[in-house]
Amino acid sequence: MPKYNDIAAFHEKLAASKRILAVCGAGLSAASGLPTFRGAGGLWRNHKATALATPEAFARDPGLVWLFYAYRRHMALSVKPNPGHYALAALARKNKDFLCLSQNVDNLHPRAGHPPSQLHLLHGSLFNIKCFNKTCGWIQHGNYDDPFCPALAAAAQDAGVELLLDPKKELAKIPESELPRCPRCKTGLRRPGVVWFSESLDGAMLDEIDKWIDDQKEKVVDMVLVIGTSAVVYPAAGYAEAARSEGTSVVTINLDAELPRNLEDLKKGDFAFAGDAAVLLPKLLRPNHSCGIRPHKICI
Ligand code: OAD
Repeated sequence: MPKYNDIAAFHEKLAASKRILAVCGAGLSAASGLPTFRGAGGLWRNHKATALATPEAFARDPGLVWLFYAYRRHMALSVKPNPGHYALAALARKNKDFLCLSQNVDNLHPRAGHPPSQLHLLHGSLFNIKCFNKTCGWIQHGNYDDPFCPALAAAAQDAGVELLLDPKKELAKIPESELPRCPRCKTGLRRPGVVWFSESLDGAMLDEIDKWIDDQKEKVVDMVLVIGTSAVVYPAAGYAEAARSEGTSVVTINLDAELPRNLEDLKKGDFAFAGDAAVLLPKLLRPNHSCGIRPHKICI
C-alpha cells in the first residue's frame, strides 16, 4: 500500500499541482458545531434529516419541514467558520486554478471569505428562499431573518431548544396559513432555497463545473480533495469517483479516512488523512505553500 498519510509528501504534491478540485461535505462544518447528516447527529426529533429534505415531506407537512430548516438557519447563524473553511479560502486566493464544490448549505464558506468565482454551492443555501410552485421561479438571495417568520419563532430561541429537539415533547402543528407565500405568484409557499432529494441541481452551475473540469488537455485535474463527506450523494460523489477512475490523485480528509474499507480504494498517488478537517486542512494547505506558481505538472 502506498504511504498515504505523509504530510511532507502531500506538500510536495500540492506544490506541484495546479488544477485542484475540492468536494466538501458536512464534516467540514462539524468543528464549527453543526451536525452531519449521517451517523450521530443525523436525527432531528426522530426524523432522519434526509427524510425531511424532500419536496414530498414539504408538501405533506410544510410547517414541520420549515421548523427543521429554521432551526438549521438559526444554528448556522450562531456558529462561525472554522480554520478548515479559512484554509480553503486562502488556497483559493493563492491559486486561481483551485475550485471548491461544497454540499454545505450553511454559508460558512462565503463567510470565511472564499472567492465566489471559485466556489459552487451544489445544494444551494439555507439563506436563499424560493417559491414551492415550480412554475413560478421566484428566488430571494441572502435572507437572514431569524426567525424566518413569526410561526417559526421556536426555532430561533436558544433557551427552550429542547422542546424543538426532544421528540418526546410534543410540538404544535404549524398551520400552512401561518407560513409566508410567494410575493410573485401569491399561491406557492416560500421554501428554503436548498436542493432536496429527487430535485435537480442548478443546470447552469453544473455546466460551469463541467467546463472547468474539461478546460485542459491532458488530465481532468491534478488533485481532488474529498473533505468531510460520506460521498454517497450524487452528483457530488461522482466528481471524486470520476477522478479516481481517471487516475487523478484523490486526497481524502475525513474522520474515518483510515478505516480499512476506505483504504481499500487507495492507489499510488492518493492520500488519506484521518481526523478533524478543521485541524488537518490548515496543516495540509499551509498558507505559505507555493501552489499555483509552478508550471502545470502531472504527478503520478
Ligand atoms: P454526511 O453526514 O453524509 O457525511 C459527513 C462525513 O463527514 C462523514 O464521512 C464523517 O465521517 C465525516 N466527518 C464528521 N466529522 C468530521 C470532522 N470533524 N472532520 C472531518 N470529517 C468529518 O454529510 P455529507 O457527505 O455532506 O444533502 O452529506 C451529503 C448530502 O447528504 C448533504 O449535502 C445533504 C445530505 O442529505 C441534501 O440535503 C440534499
